Amino acid sequence: SPSQTHNAGLSSVIRKKLMGYVGFANLPNQVHRKSVRKGFQFTAMVVGESGLGKSTLINTLFNTPLYPAKEPLPPSAERPKTVAIESISADIEENGVRLRLTVVDTPGFGDFVNNDDSWKPIVENIESRFDSYLEQENRVNRQKIVDNRVHACLYFIQPTGHSLKPIDIEFMRRLHNKVNLIPIIAKADTLTDEEVAEFKARILADIAHHNIHIFQAPTYENEDEESIAEAEEIAGKIPFAVVGSDKVVETPDGRHVRGRSYPWGVVEVDNEDHCDFVKLRQMLIRTYMEELREHTNAVLYENWRTEKLLSMGVAQDSSVFKEVNPAAKMQEERIMHEAKLAKMEAEMKMVFQQKVQEKEAKLKQSEEELYARHKDMKDALEKQRGDLEDKKRRIESGRPLTPEKPSSQTGRKKGFLRQ
Ligand code: GTP
Repeated sequence: SPSQTHNAGLSSVIRKKLMGYVGFANLPNQVHRKSVRKGFQFTAMVVGESGLGKSTLINTLFNTPLYPAKEPLPPSAERPKTVAIESISADIEENGVRLRLTVVDTPGFGDFVNNDDSWKPIVENIESRFDSYLEQENRVNRQKIVDNRVHACLYFIQPTGHSLKPIDIEFMRRLHNKVNLIPIIAKADTLTDEEVAEFKARILADIAHHNIHIFQAPTYENEDEESIAEAEEIAGKIPFAVVGSDKVVETPDGRHVRGRSYPWGVVEVDNEDHCDFVKLRQMLIRTYMEELREHTNAVLYENWRTEKLLSMGVAQDSSVFKEVNPAAKMQEERIMHEAKLAKMEAEMKMVFQQKVQEKEAKLKQSEEELYARHKDMKDALEKQRGDLEDKKRRIESGRPLTPEKPSSQTGRKKGFLRQ
């Protein structure tokens, strides 16, 4: 079995102590230098009803006015009827590390009277990004693969304090095996701490009930306690209750912080006692960005790819057999081709016979018509001949055909002509 081979392989590895410095301890630094040179690519998608603070949160997360402030549409304005997909890219840099960040926005989601199919354009968009990646992988030259796959999807839940809405469940059910889902309770400053705690519990129960997989920070064996604790702390905050703000406000004790100011005080974005923004940023950027990219590639994309190829009829085992046996494949193709030819021939023969039969029937009919006409003509002629013969006999016997009337006019004319 594979595990036995694996174990056998492991047991044959002999641990050796080095006699001096060799240098492969520098490998992580090599990887580091190379990736810094190449830069990073990350695509995040934001989904949620209009006005839940999506643009604000993205600007807050990346600390950059990536999203231009949008004026809310007046109620009378013509609103689009479908969910649109828009993306913005920006190159941002921090301590010499470049990140090409793409944010995919989905304006219109959940904003209609009927939101039954709101998830559809989003699934299609995610799949078309997978398609484009697959197409690039299949090219002869794979030097410059552009990875436009969505690495994380921030799903904004309205801070109702009740439980998930049908549209939330439908969306997550449709998307959870195609994208790393990160649920977020939007505008958490509109709920009290107790309300947030209860709301979270209900959301998690709904998610479990519907077997929805949301992205979980992975923990590995042999990992240090600190990393495990960090992963657990992050996991404990899901769904992240966040507050976004791109404004700096002054706290009563004179500090300048990113936050939202209320008559009763200031809600600080970066304060872990106030909201889960810091933990969300850790999940998305500081600790698990690479995990999100890897999970997208190795699990989500890989599953989609397998399913797609299988649905196209590429079966792993039989295709291998066919490829190693081209003669058998050719033979099979020839038999199929011959069967197709024979079928075509039989069909042509049938059509031909049918046409001949039709022609024959037509000919027979016109022959009958001709014969009837011929007989009529013959009868008419026969009658004519009878009449003529009758006439002839009467002339020969000296009988006038019709009694002749003496005409004075004729006589006079004759006399006149003789003069
Ligand atoms: P669309 O642009 O319509 O898709 O909305 P959006 O989801 O991008 O929301 P946007 O970021 O434009 O914010 C909408 C309004 O909510 C703005 O007035 C923000 O100032 C406000 N807002 C954003 N985040 C928060 C938050 O965390 N708490 C509160 N109370 N208000 C917020």
